[in-house]
Amino acid sequence: MQNFENFLLNSLPESESFHPHYQEALCAMLVAGGKRFRPALLLGVVEAYNPLLLEGAYHAAYAIELLHTYSLIHDDLPAMDNSPLRRGKPTLHVIYDEVTAILVGDALNTYAFEVLSEAPFSDYTRVQLVRELASNGGLNGMVLGQAIDCFFENQKLELDAIKMLHANKTGKLIAASLKMGAIIVGKEDLGAKLYDFGMRLGLLFQIQDDILDVTQSSDEAGKLTNNDEAKNSFVTILGLERAMEEADTLAATLLEEMEGFDANLREKMGSLLTSYINRHKH
Ligand code: IPE
Ligand code: IPE
Ligand code: MG
Ligand code: MG
Ligand code: MG
Repeated sequence: MQNFENFLLNSLPESESFHPHYQEALCAMLVAGGKRFRPALLLGVVEAYNPLLLEGAYHAAYAIELLHTYSLIHDDLPAMDNSPLRRGKPTLHVIYDEVTAILVGDALNTYAFEVLSEAPFSDYTRVQLVRELASNGGLNGMVLGQAIDCFFENQKLELDAIKMLHANKTGKLIAASLKMGAIIVGKEDLGAKLYDFGMRLGLLFQIQDDILDVTQSSDEAGKLTNNDEAKNSFVTILGLERAMEEADTLAATLLEEMEGFDANLREKMGSLLTSYINRHKH
C-alpha cells in the first residue's frame, strides 16, 4: 500500500487561483490518511489475478478513495452528522467554513471521474469502471443511503430497512471496490461473485462502525464518536450485545465464503480480509 500512498500524494488535485485556501482545503482530508480499505480491496484483487496491471489500477483505487473522501466531508457537515473531527484532524467546515467543505466535496466527487477517465486501460474497461463507481457511489448507492440515514433520524426503522440503509450508504462502495478489481483483470464472473461478497462485507463494516461509535473514544477513532444516538445504527436499534452477535454471525459467514475463493485470492487478500472481518473483536 505504500506505493499506492505515493501515487495518491503525487496525484493530488491541483487548482490555480488567487483563492487563499481552496488548494489547501482540496488536499487536507486526502493527506490526513484513513484506512484506505476500499483501495486495498481493489488492489488486492488485481494483485491476485494480474500484478502487471497494479500500477494502472492505482488510478481506479484513487478514484474510489476520492469519492469516499468526498462522502466523508459531506457526512461531517452540520446539516448531516455535524462532526468536528475526521481522520484525526478538524473537519473542513471547522477549519474553513461550510461553503469550502461543500465545494471541496463536490470537487473531489467530479475529480474521481476525471482520474478514472485517465486510467491506462481500454475505453471499454474505463467505461465499465466509471459506471460501477457512479452507480454504487451515486443516486442509487451511497447518496441514497445517506439520504435515508439523515431523513429518518429520530424515527426508528425496522431491521430490514436498516440493512437496506447500510447496504446503500456503505455496502455498495465496498462491493464496487472488489468488482472494479475484477473488471480491471477482465473477469466478469469473478466480479459478480465478489460484488455479492462485498455487500456482506460492507454491511459488516458498517455494523462494526456503529459498534466502534460506542466503544471507542474520539481520539482512538480519529472522528467524533458517541454521535449516533439519533441514528438508525445497529447499536441504537439492537443494543450493543445483539449488534455484536449480528457482526459475529456475518463474520463467520464471510470467513466460510472465503474458503471458496481461488487460492491466489486467498493468498493475497486472506490476511487483509480476516483482519477487517474481525475488526469488532479487537
Ligand atoms: C467511514 O469509512 C465511513 C463508513 C462508511 C463507515 P472508513 O472507516 O473507511 O473511513 P476512513 O477512510 O478510514 O477514514
Ligand atoms: C457514513 O456513515 C457513511 C458514508 C457514506 C460517509 P457514518 O456517518 O456512520 O460514518 P462516520 O462514523 O461518520 O465515519
Ligand atoms: Mg453519517
Ligand atoms: Mg458520520
Ligand atoms: Mg459511524
